[in-house]
Amino acid sequence: MDQETFSAVDAFIEETLVPPDESLQAALDAAEEAGLPAIQVSPPQGKLLQMLARLQGARTVLEFGTLGGYSTILLARALPAGGRLISLEANADYAAVAAAGIARAGLDDVVELRVGPALEALPALAEEGLGPFDLTFIDADKVNTPNYFAWALDHSRPGSLIVADNVVRGGTLADGSSGEEATLAQRRLHEMLAAEPRVTATTIQTVGGKGYDGFTIALVC
Ligand code: SAH
Ligand code: DHB
Ligand code: MG
Repeated sequence: MDQETFSAVDAFIEETLVPPDESLQAALDAAEEAGLPAIQVSPPQGKLLQMLARLQGARTVLEFGTLGGYSTILLARALPAGGRLISLEANADYAAVAAAGIARAGLDDVVELRVGPALEALPALAEEGLGPFDLTFIDADKVNTPNYFAWALDHSRPGSLIVADNVVRGGTLADGSSGEEATLAQRRLHEMLAAEPRVTATTIQTVGGKGYDGFTIALVC
């Protein structure tokens, strides 16, 4: 099995199960036009994220890493009337592209983007009494995934879900001798999850158009 096959199967899944959507396509086109890296969740993974938000009846969502707003729009659309999504993005240029796409999708009243390093944005969220969050999607700088997870857990409620993207990292997750910071952070995340009585968690390996990676899902008990 090779990358060509993984990509072909992702394309098949997208063609059959992920209907074309004008707002999402416009957001992707604008991101490409503006030169953003095409590292958003794949369409099948994005749909899973959206289904998880629905399954859970999420009303409050926190996202780390907006990029061009692709996952943001998917998640925001899963929310019922009155739902709220806060997305944290360090790059002001990316956030501007995302904001335009979110407005185009009619989600201005649902989504709030906060620009700046996510760790610096967290104290204000707490001070403003935002949360607990029903679903947190961690998809920003990978070295901080354990820090984002720790904060998200403290601002969750029993039944909340915390999802972290890009934890398998081409399989280096299992390499105890890896010196790569981003990989070490995912290994630390797994140690935290293993030792944390407040969650039950698993990690699913994925292949697809974005290669070999995986995501962690933690359910707060
Ligand atoms: N969730 C998006 C993809 C996010 S890509 C989607 O699936 O559509 C990762 C994003 O995290 C990038 O836009 C990057 O600029 C942002 N990022 C990197 N470091 C960050 C930080 N310290 N705080 C917030 N965002 C950060
Ligand atoms: C990168 C970030 C992501 O969120 C992703 O899904 C793939 C790659 C990156 O920073 O390279
Ligand atoms: Mg990602």
